[in-house]
Amino acid sequence: MAKQEDVFKAVVAHAKEYGFVFQSSEIYDGLSAVYDYGQNGVELKNNIKRYWWEAMTMLHDNIVGIDSAIFMHPTIWKASGHVDAFNDPLIDNRDSKKRYRADVLIEDAIAKFDEKADKEVAKARKRFGESFDETLFRQTNPRVLEQMRKKEELHTRFAEAMNANDLEELKQIILDYEIVDPISGTRNWTDVRQFNLMFKTEMGSTADGAMEVYLRPETAQGIFVNYLNVQKTGRMRIPFGIAQIGKAFRNEIVARQFIFRMREFEQMEMQFFVRPGEELKWFDYWRSERLKWHKALGLGDDKYRYHDHEKLAHYANAATDIEFLMPFGFKEVEGIHSRTDFDLSQHEKFSGKKIRYFDPELNESYVPYVIETSIGVDRMFLSVLCSCYEEQDLGGGDSRVVLHFPAPIAPVKCAVLPLVKKDGLPEKAREIQHKLRFDMACVVDEKDSIGKRYRRQDAIGTPFCITVDHQTLEDGTVTLRYRDSMEQVRLAVDEIDRIMVEKVNLNTLLKKLV
Ligand code: GAP
Repeated sequence: MAKQEDVFKAVVAHAKEYGFVFQSSEIYDGLSAVYDYGQNGVELKNNIKRYWWEAMTMLHDNIVGIDSAIFMHPTIWKASGHVDAFNDPLIDNRDSKKRYRADVLIEDAIAKFDEKADKEVAKARKRFGESFDETLFRQTNPRVLEQMRKKEELHTRFAEAMNANDLEELKQIILDYEIVDPISGTRNWTDVRQFNLMFKTEMGSTADGAMEVYLRPETAQGIFVNYLNVQKTGRMRIPFGIAQIGKAFRNEIVARQFIFRMREFEQMEMQFFVRPGEELKWFDYWRSERLKWHKALGLGDDKYRYHDHEKLAHYANAATDIEFLMPFGFKEVEGIHSRTDFDLSQHEKFSGKKIRYFDPELNESYVPYVIETSIGVDRMFLSVLCSCYEEQDLGGGDSRVVLHFPAPIAPVKCAVLPLVKKDGLPEKAREIQHKLRFDMACVVDEKDSIGKRYRRQDAIGTPFCITVDHQTLEDGTVTLRYRDSMEQVRLAVDEIDRIMVEKVNLNTLLKKLV
């Protein structure tokens, strides 16, 4: 089996070759951690966004959407805590002159204990074969238990240092655990410093007194500052939610793993406003609701897990991540946070305006509590791309690369392929395409051999190909080819629309959620 690292490299190369993701400003040697989406990428991305948007706003009577501006009054970021606390702890290696996130270095060291334990398990599995009981082995083997004890010890020390914002202790952990710079291999570290992740720019000319503004690091604050506008104009009653999709910007220091950690990215966030005291009930609701949304895509239930936070942000009283199994391990794709009344109370304080909700059932006013669901579009995109990518050996020296996208989010749903470029077959193919394109993204592809065209469509994840041949002109039948099974069936043209429409329609996914 190919190493996961190699699989990931192949996915990144494939994303470029087939018009999904390009390095930004490539002809100028690129801009680090900034990416552009190509002709297929933008379709996949838009379909993911539509799946989220419709699941939120169409399937919930009490959730509406907004689209707030990227620029906001700078005091918003003071109120939200981002100016003072949206920091990463950084450390430099004096020999390599490279800068790292201290927390990431320590998290990598924590993960090494798991890797060592996994190696013990793999060795034992080889030794015991069929009769191997992994759970029992993990619970009883002294070497595995020792690794787990060391992991727990480091984890506790790390969590305490992070919670206390103790930068000296973070450095001491790096020294005590003999963490070396992956490039220089030395332990010649500087002290740990805090670095703010927000991008700054200026609004207005300096003659007027330019105002320093930030590019938003999350879309959530645009929802908080509009919550009362929406509540009043939409006559919303608690509990209710506001959803938003939009760009966010963070000056990430450790930018790696392709589109996993970017400096400009997109978020899909929903803030759900509830009565104080009811937040944990709603937190549990959204925690399971969001996992349901992910699983409905059918990428494999075993690829998801929850990671409940031990270190809570100062404003949160519960938080969990939904992690997805990427080629580089389980990684956060979405966060669900119980943010208490922190943000709204802060905006009340900093703006001097009352932003309370009058609850007609309780006959009292209060600052609502908030449950947030926050998912990165690009990370979701990456999880779909990685899990759908397959290099298939077809036997006899033949192979193909196929993207098994769930049909409703595939960039192209159907390709109509005239067998030859003459005898009226291209015209017939266009006639079929013109009929189908009101129901789905449908293209005509007439260049190269039919085999090459099938491979090209497999490589961009097109679930259906329709081949038009001479028989089509005689009896109105075509060949329908299924991407995953490569099965081909002969059908009347009028029948294919019915067969495909149901499979490619987003409603197929949405119906699994209700
Ligand atoms: N409003 C809450 C918030 O922004 P977060 O955990 O910082 O919480 C939420 O971000 C989600 O946004 C993450 O789960 C991730 O999917 C995505 N995200 C965060 N930083 C990102 C980055 N630099 N590049 C790509 N996606 C990112």
